[in-house]
Amino acid sequence: THTEPTIFIIFGGTGDLNMRKLAPALYNLYLDGWLPENFAIIGTGRTKFTDEAYQEKLLEGINSFSRSGKADKKKWDEFSKHVAYQVSDIKDSETYKEFGGKIEGYNKEWKTKANVIYYLAVSPNFFPIIASNLAKAKLTEDTKRVRIVIEKPFGHDLDSAKELNKLLANIFDERQIYRIDHYLGKETVQNIMAFRFANSLFEPLWNRNYIEHVQISVTEQLGVEDRGDYYEGSGALRDMIQNHLLQLLCLVAMETPISFDSDEVRNRKVEVLRAMRPFSADDVRNSAVRGQYAKGWMEGKEVPGYREESNVDPESNTETFAAIKFFIDNWRWQGIPFYLRTGKRMHQSASVITIQFKDVPHRVFPSESSESWQQNRLIISIQPEMSIRLQVQAKRPGLDMVLNAVDMVFDYKGTYTNQAPEAYETLLLDTMLGDQTLFMRGDQVESAWELIMPILNAWQRKKSLSFPNYSADSWGPENAEALIARDGFHWFTLPLNGKK
Ligand code: BG6
Repeated sequence: THTEPTIFIIFGGTGDLNMRKLAPALYNLYLDGWLPENFAIIGTGRTKFTDEAYQEKLLEGINSFSRSGKADKKKWDEFSKHVAYQVSDIKDSETYKEFGGKIEGYNKEWKTKANVIYYLAVSPNFFPIIASNLAKAKLTEDTKRVRIVIEKPFGHDLDSAKELNKLLANIFDERQIYRIDHYLGKETVQNIMAFRFANSLFEPLWNRNYIEHVQISVTEQLGVEDRGDYYEGSGALRDMIQNHLLQLLCLVAMETPISFDSDEVRNRKVEVLRAMRPFSADDVRNSAVRGQYAKGWMEGKEVPGYREESNVDPESNTETFAAIKFFIDNWRWQGIPFYLRTGKRMHQSASVITIQFKDVPHRVFPSESSESWQQNRLIISIQPEMSIRLQVQAKRPGLDMVLNAVDMVFDYKGTYTNQAPEAYETLLLDTMLGDQTLFMRGDQVESAWELIMPILNAWQRKKSLSFPNYSADSWGPENAEALIARDGFHWFTLPLNGKK
């Protein structure tokens, strides 16, 4: 694989996403030799910058956020020659003429027709105006070379997602549209497919006959910080479940694709979403729990409750925690619950998938021989620990027969010496290579919205009288425990030091 001459035009070029993620990712791709000889990065925004001042700004971002640490002077000097800035008014057709001129200029200089990637690192209100103005300026017509990258949220609900998809479909072919769900670019998330489909050991067990239930838990210690403005209109369901957690669920539940072709894989994922049991009003009451954090203490520091955060309504009805029990109505998963939970200001930052297998059909060992009986579990830890653990029962060494649970561990740290790339490196490289496997297709986005709409609507209609209902540094509201305890299970947490 190699990358072709490419021009990146980054809308929101002075924004946070570019500083923290995109610029460091592009720089690391450069260091690793993935960028072609001819490439250009044009940042654009309303503020005026000279090319040099803009390069300096990117350098600050890279120095603070790159996984490879502070930039090397010589490498940076080479890289920065490819970086330019253009001030823009996204509503003004002149802006797009200028982009057109720049693209032509590079093509002439490089004596080729370069790929052009428009990266919309801006608020979604601007997607329509930018996309239509690009089209008006005839900058989108080369369906083979022109690509557009957009960041979530893809719509605010099902209707607005459909509207956005329609607008994009009027201008671009689906194969030109790269909708980013950065979870899909994480090393450990990509490994779920490798683990399932490159080993013969697990697939025969991967169904309702052997698996008892599945948990997908993405908890964060962070609060909403300075994002109250966005978060207040979003909430945990929209911000995390609709996208990241449902994508993880799809990877766990999908059928085996016949190849790694992007649409082959994405078709299998959409089939999961389409097979998920729709929520009735009763289901929302019984199988979905919401929470909002109260003030408290985190690691010795007092932190405000959600309602005290800036740009948040003091009587806010927005959930910062959600736990939901889903079913998938197909042959593989009928009757097997998938519990998803996510929340902010939780006790631990950890993204973990737990697959619990059924108990042995008959216990041969007397119960006093077991310290704590533990059914087999497969634990895929996405972050911060990157590992896969298989929990099995074993005999503890000694003269009497005492059983306990032990872990067979595949730990990235102990296995590989090279540093895992950041999700954005993988995703930007795939955009250059034209590989859409790890990106959200339009119908995936819509199916996910369709599934959560009944919950979203019910929660919006009815104000929660119990908010705030969990304190900072906890595991969320009590109801979330009850949701899973009713079925005889409990939420699994991976001790951060890897010990039991
Ligand atoms: C983003 C959400 O998509 O994902 C944030 O908008 C959340 O609210 C973030 O904090 C979590 O991503 P990560 O990679 O830090 O797990």
